[in-house]
Amino acid sequence: MEKEILIHQETILSKVKELAGQISSDYAGKEPVLIGILNGVVFFFADLVREMTIPCKIDFIRASSYGSGMTSSGAITLTKDIEIPIRDKPVIIIEDIVDTGLTLKHIFKRLEDRGPESIRICALINKLERRNEEIIVDYCGFQIKEGFLIGYGLDHDEQYRYLPGIYVLR
Ligand code: IMP
Repeated sequence: MEKEILIHQETILSKVKELAGQISSDYAGKEPVLIGILNGVVFFFADLVREMTIPCKIDFIRASSYGSGMTSSGAITLTKDIEIPIRDKPVIIIEDIVDTGLTLKHIFKRLEDRGPESIRICALINKLERRNEEIIVDYCGFQIKEGFLIGYGLDHDEQYRYLPGIYVLR
């Protein structure tokens, strides 16, 4: 398979800065809990949090839906839960890429059951073609129509996560 650059590192970092600015001003005076969905979110999460200008708490959750292929299996299981309480707290879910929306929908419900003050979604990439769940991405980095992306945390079969830019795999 071949990879073709889609979003350069500099473009990603300036978008991350923009998202961090929006979140910081929307949550001014608050201390949101940022919950990252592992593993793909790691670099985005770390860059985003460090560009924010307000205090926040961080935690992580992990769900498995993708096997080793490029399509979702549909079945979602939580393999790591958050550890800090979120009741009455403003929560922002941080996701690398939203595809069908199944993972986010599942995680959103699990978190909603714990009575947070609010939940918003921040995703670096919103991939629209295969969306079959209604998901509102409150903070969106890039919208793309289709394609399987790798790099900046995104993998194919656990490969390519380390690449600083985002590529499309063909
Ligand atoms: P969804 O449940 O179909 O929305 O899938 C979300 C998860 O699938 C993401 O958190 C990624 O881990 C993975 N995923 C979806 N599309 C891609 C892609 O283009 N490249 C790499 N991983 C992807």
